Amino acid sequence: MEHAIAWDDGAIVTIDQRALPDDHRPLRLTTIDELIDAIAALAIRGAPAVGVAGALGIALSAHLRAHEGELDEAGVRADAERIASARPTAVNLEWGVRRALSRVADGADAVLAEALALLGEDEAVNRAAARRAAEFLRARCAPGPLRILTHCNTGRLATVAWGTALGAIRELAAAGQVAEVLAGETRPLLQGARLTAWELAEEGIPHRLCVDSAGPAAIAAGMVDCVIVGADRVAANGDVANKIGTYSLAVAAGRAGIPFVVVAPESTLDSRTFSGSEIEIEERAAEEVTHHGGRRMAPEGTPVFNPAFDVTPSELVTAVVTETRTLVRGKEDGSGLPDRIADRIDVIPDFPNKGVLFQDLAPFYADAAIVRDTAAEMARAFRGKFDCVLALEARGFPIGAAVAQHSDVPLILARKPGKLPGEVISAGYGLEYGKDTLEVQAKGIPAGSRVLIVDDVLATGGTLTAAAQLVTGCGALVGGIAAIVELDALGGRAKLSSHEVFTVHHVA
Ligand code: MRU
Repeated sequence: MEHAIAWDDGAIVTIDQRALPDDHRPLRLTTIDELIDAIAALAIRGAPAVGVAGALGIALSAHLRAHEGELDEAGVRADAERIASARPTAVNLEWGVRRALSRVADGADAVLAEALALLGEDEAVNRAAARRAAEFLRARCAPGPLRILTHCNTGRLATVAWGTALGAIRELAAAGQVAEVLAGETRPLLQGARLTAWELAEEGIPHRLCVDSAGPAAIAAGMVDCVIVGADRVAANGDVANKIGTYSLAVAAGRAGIPFVVVAPESTLDSRTFSGSEIEIEERAAEEVTHHGGRRMAPEGTPVFNPAFDVTPSELVTAVVTETRTLVRGKEDGSGLPDRIADRIDVIPDFPNKGVLFQDLAPFYADAAIVRDTAAEMARAFRGKFDCVLALEARGFPIGAAVAQHSDVPLILARKPGKLPGEVISAGYGLEYGKDTLEVQAKGIPAGSRVLIVDDVLATGGTLTAAAQLVTGCGALVGGIAAIVELDALGGRAKLSSHEVFTVHHVA
């Protein structure tokens, strides 16, 4: 499929989305200022597309700042800051910038290679997410062609190719499963009217355009089977920032009991932002609202509220579908994380001793996304209740480190005997199979601090009880106890009843 954005010999080339659908005006950007203007003015728009533009911007900066084999790294970094802040809401922009910047020490060619890799991945990523979303909707909606409502533009113009939510619509349409798409016009810049209606017509997908306020009314009137939209940022708790007008569609969908599905690449998921309330919502110029087609519509000087995006709380989102997973939220299905964890654990009978069902977490740790999400979930469960993390040897180390990183707090390691230098504090414990001891350095846990103890499995509770003793032995407090898996039948939680315990996945 033709790419909406590309690199051509020291220039970023694309089409000016402001002039569409009638005027196909090519844009050739050769300076950082031109790129920033193009992003800020929405000549390049749509979260994945601005992510790619951001990465190519770093390549452009490196190209412009390389002289006789020497790259002005500080100059590239300064450009990176400016590019990343051209628009604040879509996390993809800073993601693309960061990814290309990660190669700056290797020179301009390496930066360009990284930016081109990111550009090259985009179509496959969108197609995979779109396929998953189509499958999800087939399973969720009544059989037969669907009446779909979408908002803004999430098609090939908003990405490099294919599109996210509109990609899912293409996928369904190709299988004869679209009865009609209702496209919201998307005031004030009309991405739905100018771009989505144009892309749908190009594909021959049956559609009608409606004013934004007709969307919730159409849902309430039973004219819509499902809502599919894209996203600009998905917070760790599942709250979704997307084009203004999305929230009212989600409320209407929730009330009508129809699926509200968000299709977005993994790069739109922002585990560093805990919830939607932390997402910066871009406010744009008053003229976008007061004027229409270059003519003023409101009285001169009318004060304006013009947020470009809104936040839909996770409880209104049926699923966030990415290229690698379908995150199902809401009451019927839980958070989806326990099921994903269950899929990533191999249960090995009679290991290491006869009668023990060993929970092998190797597949869990091999999946970066699930480790990240589990850490975010643990951090969320104990938010504001801990100042440091104590991770237990050995399989508690990686998840403990991920929780500490996520929460930006110090990590302390509790080790098996004889591994730590200097004065140590020890606590012995019985295991499901055998006995052991845990140690921390006496100076390791600051007195008075609140410690989140993190391990892989809560079985009999012996290890975690010993860890709690280490914490109190250092004069610190147990802020909480978190484990990935809990073996309910072994009753370990009862031993820890004086502490707050959170486990993500339960094995009966
Ligand atoms: O202001 P825009 O046009 O960049 O806003 C775009 C949206 O809100 C899209 O829905 C989102 O970026 C997803 S695009 C695949």
